[in-house]
Amino acid sequence: MTPWERALADVTAGHAPHAAAAALVLLMTPEERRRCLSGDLPFWAGLAHMATGGIHRRPFRAATVPRLGIPGLAFSDGPRGVVVGTATCFPVSMARGATWDLDLEERIGEAIGIELRTVGANLFGGVCVNILHHPAWGRAQETYGEDPHHVGEFGAALTRGVQRHVMATVKHFAANSMENARFQVDVTIANQALHEVYLPHFKRVVQEGVACVMTAYNSLNGEWCGQSPALISDVLRTEWGFEGLVISDWIFGVRDAAASINAGLDLEMPGPMVRHAGLDAALASGDTTWAAIDACVTRTLAALLRQTTRTPSTAPDHSAVAGPGHRALAREAAAKSIVLLRNEPIDGAPLLPLAAASLTSVAVFGAWAAMPNLGDSGSSDVNPPDVVTPLEGLVAALPQTTVVLQSAPAAAAGSDVAIVVVGYTSADEGEYVGYHPHPALTALLPGADDPDEAAAFTAVIAAETTSTFAPRVGPEGIPGRRSVGGDRTSLRLSPTDEALIAAVVAINPRTIVAVVAGSAVIMEAWRHQVPAIVQLWYSGMEGGHGLADVLLGRTDASGRLPFTVPTDARHLPPFDRSATTAVYDGWHGYWRLARDRHAAAYPFGFGLSYTAWALGPTTVDEHEDHLVVQATVRNLGSREGADVVQVYAGRPADATRPARRLVAFARVSVPAHRETVVEIRIPWSALAVRQGDAWLIAAGTYVLTVGRHSADLDAVDLIIDRP
Ligand code: BGC
Repeated sequence: MTPWERALADVTAGHAPHAAAAALVLLMTPEERRRCLSGDLPFWAGLAHMATGGIHRRPFRAATVPRLGIPGLAFSDGPRGVVVGTATCFPVSMARGATWDLDLEERIGEAIGIELRTVGANLFGGVCVNILHHPAWGRAQETYGEDPHHVGEFGAALTRGVQRHVMATVKHFAANSMENARFQVDVTIANQALHEVYLPHFKRVVQEGVACVMTAYNSLNGEWCGQSPALISDVLRTEWGFEGLVISDWIFGVRDAAASINAGLDLEMPGPMVRHAGLDAALASGDTTWAAIDACVTRTLAALLRQTTRTPSTAPDHSAVAGPGHRALAREAAAKSIVLLRNEPIDGAPLLPLAAASLTSVAVFGAWAAMPNLGDSGSSDVNPPDVVTPLEGLVAALPQTTVVLQSAPAAAAGSDVAIVVVGYTSADEGEYVGYHPHPALTALLPGADDPDEAAAFTAVIAAETTSTFAPRVGPEGIPGRRSVGGDRTSLRLSPTDEALIAAVVAINPRTIVAVVAGSAVIMEAWRHQVPAIVQLWYSGMEGGHGLADVLLGRTDASGRLPFTVPTDARHLPPFDRSATTAVYDGWHGYWRLARDRHAAAYPFGFGLSYTAWALGPTTVDEHEDHLVVQATVRNLGSREGADVVQVYAGRPADATRPARRLVAFARVSVPAHRETVVEIRIPWSALAVRQGDAWLIAAGTYVLTVGRHSADLDAVDLIIDRP
């Protein structure tokens, strides 16, 4: 029995993982403990390999100690699936946020967890819950939206599903909401806004039992997140009681060896870098201690012990990878995520849904209609075996109809309907993987790799040349080509796309526009000219089928926006993609527009359905530690549909905070001409505000607004008094 197996047996027998891990650390040499402070990847050899797609070839390993039998961590990114090898590609997180379906998100988490085990990973890196502070953020698609409650519930659901199989990592802690400047920007957030707006969703995922937290690249209130005692030690570990693993973001996520160790960052990823180079000096000067190092290593091994003893030991199920079950899930998510933004009558009836039987010809336009366009091509890129494009989805769904990709708008003339697929690709928005020649970063680069480790790593790669991994064709049409990504430079569609829409709708008024994007697109130049608009997202490998399902009404249009679509970028907070400093005041998204009395083009929570909805009797009951809202949801139409009941809360006496802040939601399916009563439980703590280090539920009158979106004029207000 190896020491690792003995530790596992102890934990299985009921010993605390932390104590078993501490016993293991006592058996480790100083060199082994020191190596466990960083990932296992030799820096330069690893970097060279990553540059050629290596990030998508194998999990990143850390804390492997062969002498003691410790298998170590094996990390794989997300969130739209498993990035290593070939996997099911789900719609991006922002699309999933638009489903408002937590059960679906949990099932996606399970599917990802099952697929992760087939590539030997035990740590998922894809629970990204940064708040969408501004739609220009290049990585907007990796999170779920602009509202802390909504984002937190989705992060918790993904974590629940994933952790039935492997550990999950929530990232990027904290306030990481801009991309190009991520290595340089210091974000200033006052205590109240920090705890009420930028941290609650992380806390929610921690409460769900997430195993690992990844720190952010940026600095927050004057300290780099990877070495911030305020964040890691005071908030995460002390206030929230997090006992799990804390890892850095990859390369340049740590600036100072001692500071990061002392703050409680357990692992610098993905390989020996700042900590390795700086450790001897830090120990010699007394800036850090072996006790602090051992605390890090103990937490890392404890997380691994917990995971190994809790999750299944059955053989990985390779048949599940992009198998029928996971494809069906990807299609369900794609269809449920589509948000119907506009559906005006043409010839007396709303243009959508289309009646398949009455369609003879459909003209499809747009550069991305017939091209796989799955989103970011940085760390979240997933390589599915195939992708159903919008065109393919429509062709498959309409076997009796001529569905043709057209380039000249004139071709719209003779068709029953025109569908224009416009929007962005990974070249317009995504993780920024360009070169940063910043001297402060260059100074962090380590010396040469350990030759033995580099040689061993290179030998592993060489042995894998027969791998079946084949990078997919990117949106630019070039196999394996990756975009440098980054923050958007505009919130509008390209002039080419806007001109295409105008030209097509001028020829055929029966025009539907499908917008592919990871967050809000300003549509003022054209939205009033077209009768039907859907937000399509980067909708995953089954996205084309999901689009056809919704356009043809095989399923209701049930997506709801997880963010605000403004009419004007000036209604948003400032955004400077090369900023070195930024101030977040807690007023963004729908809160900001409501405060400043700007109507949104499409408000947070909004989305049309193919049926008609109304709220019937709606009440609230007060209990000692929670409230119960009962809402009657009436489907007034003649077809089944799905709606999302949203509960917002505010205290009118408090003008320093939003009048309506989401505190609960429930997605509900209702048959035609029927009603259902939804019961929603809201803890009183959802109404608490931060004062100094404490949370307080102020006495006074609160208004709970129960409605169908954040600016719903038909919403029901319920008044409660807190003594
Ligand atoms: C990204 C992380 C990712 C990591 C590993 C970083 O550049 O910011 O989100 O998990 O790389 O690929």
